[in-house]
Amino acid sequence: MVRNFMCWKRDRSTIEVLVILCVLVSSCRGLEASAKSVHCDVQKDDNKIVVSCSHRNIDSITSWPQEVNAIDKGLIDQIRISYYNNTIKNVTKLPPLAGNKISLGFTANQIAEIEESAFSNVDRIVSLDLGSNRITGQVLRSEIFQGPYKNNVYGDISLQILNLAHNEIHSLDRYLFQHTPNLTSLFLNNNPLETLDHVSVLAISSATNLQTLDLSYTEIDSIPMATFSNLMYLRYIDLSGNKFITVPESLNLVGGSLETLTFNNNSIEELNDDSFVGLRKLQQLEVSNNEYLLEVKRSTFSPLVNLKILHLCHNPKLRYISHNAFRGLKDKWTLSEVYLNDNHLSELSTDLMPWSKLEILGMTKNNWLCNCDLADIVTTQKAGEKFKPKDIPVCAAPMKLSGAYITDISLTYCPTFDSTFLPKKNFSLSDLKPRHVLWSIFGVASVVCVGMLIGLMVNYTKRFYKKQLRSQSGVNYSNLNEDLTDA
Ligand SMILES: *[C@@H]1O[C@H](CO)[C@@H](O)[C@H](O)[C@H]1NC(C)=O
Ligand SMILES: *[C@@H]1O[C@H](CO)[C@@H](O)[C@H](O)[C@H]1NC(C)=O
Ligand SMILES: *[C@@H]1O[C@H](CO)[C@@H](O)[C@H](O)[C@H]1NC(C)=O
Repeated sequence: MVRNFMCWKRDRSTIEVLVILCVLVSSCRGLEASAKSVHCDVQKDDNKIVVSCSHRNIDSITSWPQEVNAIDKGLIDQIRISYYNNTIKNVTKLPPLAGNKISLGFTANQIAEIEESAFSNVDRIVSLDLGSNRITGQVLRSEIFQGPYKNNVYGDISLQILNLAHNEIHSLDRYLFQHTPNLTSLFLNNNPLETLDHVSVLAISSATNLQTLDLSYTEIDSIPMATFSNLMYLRYIDLSGNKFITVPESLNLVGGSLETLTFNNNSIEELNDDSFVGLRKLQQLEVSNNEYLLEVKRSTFSPLVNLKILHLCHNPKLRYISHNAFRGLKDKWTLSEVYLNDNHLSELSTDLMPWSKLEILGMTKNNWLCNCDLADIVTTQKAGEKFKPKDIPVCAAPMKLSGAYITDISLTYCPTFDSTFLPKKNFSLSDLKPRHVLWSIFGVASVVCVGMLIGLMVNYTKRFYKKQLRSQSGVNYSNLNEDLTDA
């Protein structure tokens, strides 16, 4: 019994020792972890402090780094804290923080959960970077952005820039932005959206102050009209790396504000007069890396009356640009930079654009046929002066000029087979658009109608006169009859 007791006692004391050891070890580890999180790199300017806590194995934020807590709160206006590449899984309700403009970066963590009201103590947050995490649409409830709770309502937060790129988002909560009225930039790129469903559309269209929207690499192939119906200030949109086969028509709803459109790496085969309808404020357009783009048709750029920079590069199949692509723009020319590098072009029309009005022209890496037209563009119209010094294009044909700089070809060497070298493009059925067909049908129908109307009128007048004739003679007859009966 005693022995047993002793045994038990000894066991108990070992357990106690073990427990104490465990507590010691874990508290030491705890100290170590918090020490790690405390020692961040700090950069201080007049009224700005930038704190970098990257690569420190931080897995939760229960307090801000010491450096931040130590600062003279009255003097600091802007605070930027980055937790780049740590192991945070759960963004819990963050502790209060001084400063008027707060930026928080949680890029490259393992965030799969964000608590309700996580930012209500830092409601002066202007920028939040949640890129490259494991955030799904379910995590993004409107409650996470709730501001401080006052008078029975949740307030708003100042958030202007929200980066959600490289996560696992399929869909957005329709009320997600209800507490972020000042949101101007939203990055949703590299998420598996696939389609902009009804609720996502409602969410985006509720962010009425949006100026920048990145929807690149989200596997979408269309944008419903309603998405843009309330976005009066949208200036920049990136739709690259998606599955569009045409430039989405809904864009013309933001034509009054859109200044930059990036449309690289999609499945379009042509650009035409429907592509950029209504984009009258657009200044920069980039349509590059489109594997299937074959041609740019007439009046493609005509709606873009304010375009300044055009990038049309790295489209490996692009071999034809209509000489009327800029139709209607030449008198009020606004373009200063045109980049046509690395396509499959061999010829350009001399009247494609007023070449001398450009500031920069890029034409390298194409299959230039150095003919009289090209010589005219480069020399007579002075396009040759617009190339950057290291970007002088070379001729691919004819054979004897192959490899020569196109700025070196002169009219004395000009081959005479210019216009006959490539067959002129003939009209094909594929040029017909539904609109054209409709108009033709309408035309034929109206001719038929008018014809029928005329026919009817002729018939009617004929009958009318016949009747009159008959009634005139009828009178005579009746008179005669009367006369006869009277008689
Ligand atoms: C994060 O840091 C680890 C090493 O600590 C590194 O292997 C990894 O590539 C980093 N990840 C990113 C996204 O930078
Ligand atoms: C995130 O943290 C909060 C607060 O500590 C906790 O209540 C919640 O269960 C955590 N969520 C997850 C998924 O771990
Ligand atoms: C949004 O911006 C306006 C104008 O700058 C400002 O008055 C307002 O306080 C901001 N809202 C929030 C919630 O910060």
